[in-house]
Amino acid sequence: MLKPEIAKLLGEQVNAEFYASNVYLQLSAWCESQGLEGAALFFRGHSLEERTHMDKIFDYLCECGIPVTIGAIAAPPTQFANLMEVINAAYQHELKVSAMIKNIANQAFQAQDYTTFNFIEWFIAEQHEEEVLFGKILSKAKMLGFDGSPGQALHHMDNFLRAVEQHA
Ligand code: FEO
Repeated sequence: MLKPEIAKLLGEQVNAEFYASNVYLQLSAWCESQGLEGAALFFRGHSLEERTHMDKIFDYLCECGIPVTIGAIAAPPTQFANLMEVINAAYQHELKVSAMIKNIANQAFQAQDYTTFNFIEWFIAEQHEEEVLFGKILSKAKMLGFDGSPGQALHHMDNFLRAVEQHA
């Protein structure tokens, strides 16, 4: 049986992963509206991935006999100056999710809930992967001298994000 405080954190994470999915869906919509088809594809893929994260935690809570409550999901940001701002927003969001996941791992360990600790390890590895991925995207932007302005670097970034998604 999960301790109530651990069940609460996991329940909140279900909602946080839903929010993350919506954040990426909104970023994808913004990219579509700007004609950035590669970036739109990349963020659409990420939106679906976040949904699978939500499913994993949902399943775990169900397996543990914990009722899941889906709360109101806040609206994600909609206004961005350019693709660089979008990429930075996504990266900052992943850092926040990483902190939430590490907090669950920490709380589970403190509570000697090794089943949840083992379960959440997958997410720790996943967040590491995400941070590495966004690190590579930011390095690419730096290499191209991309600051979000229209031009050849924007075209290259859009193609790069498409390639990342297609090879994922
Ligand atoms: Fe499920 Fe990218 O956090």
